[in-house]
Amino acid sequence: MTQPASTPIPANVPRHVAIIMDGNGRWAKQRSRPRTFGHSEGVEALRRTVEAAGDLGVEYLTVFGFSTENWRRPAEEVNALFDLLRLYVARDLDKLAREGVRVRIIGEREGLQGDIAEIIANAEAKTRHNDKLNLIIAFNYGGQDEIARAARRIATDVAAGKLKADDIDPDRFATYLDTAGIPAPDMLIRTSGELRLSNFMLWQAAYSELIFVDVLWPDFGKPSLEAAIEAYQRRERRYGGTDPEPR
Ligand code: FPP
Repeated sequence: MTQPASTPIPANVPRHVAIIMDGNGRWAKQRSRPRTFGHSEGVEALRRTVEAAGDLGVEYLTVFGFSTENWRRPAEEVNALFDLLRLYVARDLDKLAREGVRVRIIGEREGLQGDIAEIIANAEAKTRHNDKLNLIIAFNYGGQDEIARAARRIATDVAAGKLKADDIDPDRFATYLDTAGIPAPDMLIRTSGELRLSNFMLWQAAYSELIFVDVLWPDFGKPSLEAAIEAYQRRERRYGGTDPEPR
């Protein structure tokens, strides 16, 4: 994708942008550095992107920080990713809180190291009254796992007589997902040229505009986000109908 020739149209900025931050390992390899170096530079890209999203008027930004499948990576790399979440929150939470960012974490909490669960709870509690930008970090997250956990809770509620099986429809189902109350992503970006969803927001991305860019995540920032939004603004959203849907 080319860089933007102009800035995006402010009136038609996607309300919710979701990003698969891919390519950290390749970025590091190109520089003969360890993969973990790519991940730390990935945090810098995340910081730039959060700032840019706020500036551009995006209301929800969801990023894929650690997937339920990432446990298959070497322990050293898994630990580095957990450390980066700790570091990011330790370094940026006060600033995010001050700037009106609400932080939420989606994914399986069970089995996470104790301090991580605490860090997540603290970040969410500290920012829960903010509403300028919602930053949603998918951590220990898998779309299939999220749907299975929702189904389990629905089954429990049905068994307890709190919910009728006949009342389960997509809207009701969505209230059991980690993203309950959060609108579906309008645009889903994946960096690094890979053309897959990789188990990210499987339910929520049903009608998201998919934008694949070649840039490796550590090189991402405001110009890349603007270019992606411009590409989004050239798309016509029909949601299964024949006419463009009014926003
Ligand atoms: C994919 O790159 C990226 C990840 C698995 C992790 C993304 C994490 C960050 C950007 C930093 C962590 C930030 C927080 C807040 C947790 P890859 O390693 O798969 O790259 P490759 O495909 O080039 O090997």
